[in-house]
Amino acid sequence: MTTVRVNASATVSIETSALVIGIHASPDGPQTAPGADGLDQALGGQLAATLIAMGFTGKAEEIAKFPTFGALPAPIVVAVGLGDAPEGDYKAETLRRAAGAAVRSLAGTPDATFALPAPSATEVEAIALGALLGAYGFSKYQTNGQRKAPVGEVVVLTEAEGAEGAAQRAATLAEAVNLVRDLVNTPPSDLWPARLAEIAEETAGKAGLSVDILDEIALKDAGYGGIVGVGQGSANPPRLVRVAYAHPEAGKTIAYVGKGITFDSGGLSLKPAASMDWMKSDMGGAAAVLGAVLAVARLGLKVNVIGYLCLAENMPSGTAQRPSDVLHTYSGKTVEVLDTDAEGRLVLIDGIARAAEDAPDLIIDVATLTGGQIIALGWRTCAVMSNDDDLREEIVEVAQAQGEGAWGMPLPEELRKGLDSPIADIANLNPERWGGMLAAGIFLREFVPDGVRWAHVDMAGPAFNKGEPHGYTPKGGTGALTRTLFGIAERYAR
Ligand code: BES
Ligand code: MN
Ligand code: ZN
Repeated sequence: MTTVRVNASATVSIETSALVIGIHASPDGPQTAPGADGLDQALGGQLAATLIAMGFTGKAEEIAKFPTFGALPAPIVVAVGLGDAPEGDYKAETLRRAAGAAVRSLAGTPDATFALPAPSATEVEAIALGALLGAYGFSKYQTNGQRKAPVGEVVVLTEAEGAEGAAQRAATLAEAVNLVRDLVNTPPSDLWPARLAEIAEETAGKAGLSVDILDEIALKDAGYGGIVGVGQGSANPPRLVRVAYAHPEAGKTIAYVGKGITFDSGGLSLKPAASMDWMKSDMGGAAAVLGAVLAVARLGLKVNVIGYLCLAENMPSGTAQRPSDVLHTYSGKTVEVLDTDAEGRLVLIDGIARAAEDAPDLIIDVATLTGGQIIALGWRTCAVMSNDDDLREEIVEVAQAQGEGAWGMPLPEELRKGLDSPIADIANLNPERWGGMLAAGIFLREFVPDGVRWAHVDMAGPAFNKGEPHGYTPKGGTGALTRTLFGIAERYAR
């Protein structure tokens, strides 16, 4: 695991394997950002000319490496683009992405020193977080060292007050996000509901949280028809995990409910093969909930947070639920299962109904819920729906500040009609395909008791990066929403 520390030495005298500096784009060519003071002089005034000769412009996340040939203790310099120089303060996300891109380019290097603009603790945290997230790698299943080891130690150069604390905070957040990524990347052969519940118990136990796990028998006895129905086709039975963090001075209680389908084959409404190979990521919501609660606990926020992990494996078999089955859910309402591939909403409604019993000030569910989210907003922007306009906007705002894309979406009343069932209280699928992401939100809303502030985040695309790495985001599991859920808790802790 990559570690982080801060250092207040001068840029040019630091002993390090690689020195990372920031470069701005400008009409007059690349310009050195604050933090790299004295470097140009140490390099004989050749920095700008060298960058221009390499075709380096300073656009965001551009990378150039060059040797120093003994001009300073660092054998190489890594220039990373920061885009146009800001009018005022640096955006945290600019620094996170730059640090992430730089650290990715340094895999195989034991340590790296970041001489980026870090005038206050805010920038220090952003640089440290970007570097620690960018250094992530998942090589557990590669046996012959195909992948270079990530940078082992990150050093942030700064004279800012509170730098040490900021770096430690970044380390705690990065640890939570990287755990979520590990869980998402772990193949379903090694991560089934009971195993994920066990990992939650171990990690949350260590962080001093109370953990309760309902197994398939307890779930059946207590009437969790949604979770039981989805899980009954699998040899790996379902679980509902409750992790609770309480602070004695807390004024507010928030509940998070995560979709935790450890593999989504679609069930009897089987998915086509091409849509199935990345469905190990269908537990990304539950993992993000776990990661966020862990980070809240480790940083001791003054708020109560309860996380529900709704865990099941959605498989076809002789015991699987059938299209047209009717489920008796925890809320007391019945649901006709028209499509077993619309399983996420079935486990979530049991989690939401259970969470409401804790009488929280708000409930947020997070889920890789619909392909419609990807159609509507693409790979990097989550959809936020809510029964409360202020809550929806608050989540979007917090997500954007964390650099996690999010956008508010409506819950149009006219879509409710399409969920009518001739034999049950509601159907789990609107036969009309259009607006499927919103219909899923409308379905969930039916299970939120009156007067409860609730929001639903669909992160089908953002949870898993099928493309190339970018900024501090690796290929595969991204850890999406973990930092946003932490950020919401932080708001309600004030
Ligand atoms: N887990 C999928 C949604 C998904 C799709 C997540 C792509 C990540 C990437 C979900 O369970 C699902 O199958 N949704 C269906 C619902 C439909 C049958 C109403 C969908 O969106 O196609
Ligand atoms: Mn599905
Ligand atoms: Zn699913």
